[in-house]
Amino acid sequence: MDFYELLEKRRSIRDFEDKEVPLELIEELIKDSVKAPNAGNMQLWRFVIVNNKEWVKKLSDANKKAMISDIEGNPNSPFKGYEARIRDENYNVFYNAPCVIYLAGSARAGTLSVDCALLASYFMLLAAAKGLGTCWVAQGAQIKDPEILAELGIPENYRIIAPIILGYPRSIPPMPERKEPKILKVIS
Ligand SMILES: Cc1cc2nc3c(=O)[nH]c(=O)nc-3n(C[C@H](O)[C@H](O)[C@H](O)COP(=O)(O)O)c2cc1C
Repeated sequence: MDFYELLEKRRSIRDFEDKEVPLELIEELIKDSVKAPNAGNMQLWRFVIVNNKEWVKKLSDANKKAMISDIEGNPNSPFKGYEARIRDENYNVFYNAPCVIYLAGSARAGTLSVDCALLASYFMLLAAAKGLGTCWVAQGAQIKDPEILAELGIPENYRIIAPIILGYPRSIPPMPERKEPKILKVIS
C-alpha cells in the first residue's frame, strides 16, 4: 500500500471484530509512532495500554458517569448534545473496541497536546498500514474518578490527551467528505 492509499484507508473505525490485538503488535506500533516530530525531541508522551474488553467497558462507564455529572452540573456542558446517547445503557464510548491506548503526560508540559496529537497521527496511520482500525475518542478522556486513574497508572499531575481505540475493523467506511481547503492568501 503506498502512502496515498494509506491516507484513504486510515478512517475512524467504530465497528470492530471480536478479536484481540496481540500486545507485541501494539508495542511495535508505539515504538514506530515515537518517530513523530515533537518539541525539542523531549518525548514527553506516556502510554497506557488497556487491552481487555471488560476494562474498556469499565472505562466507558466511568467516562459516561463523568459526562452525565457535567451535563447535570454545568448549563454549558459540551456533552449536552450527546445526552440521549450517553444515557443509553448500550452506548459504549469506545464502540466495544477490544483495546484503548491512552496518550498522556505531565500537565506542566506546554507542548504535550501538540506532541501527542502528532504521535496519534503516526499511530493511526501505522495501525491502518497493518490492517488495524483506530479512532481518537475525546469522550474517553473525561474520567475523573481518582481510583480508576490510579489503576490506570496515570499520576494526578498528568493530563490525558488522546484515547485511541484499536482493533480489527469489520469494514472501512469511505472518507467523510472534506471541504475545499480555505487558503487565506498566497504570497509568491
Ligand atoms: C481530537 C479528536 C477527537 C475526536 N473525538 C471523537 C469522539 O469522541 N468520538 C468519535 O466517534 N470520534 C471522534 N473523533 C473522530 C472524528 O469524528 C473523525 O476523525 C472525523 O469524523 C473524520 O473522519 P475520519 O477520521 O474517518 O477521516 C475525534 C477525532 C479527533 C481528531
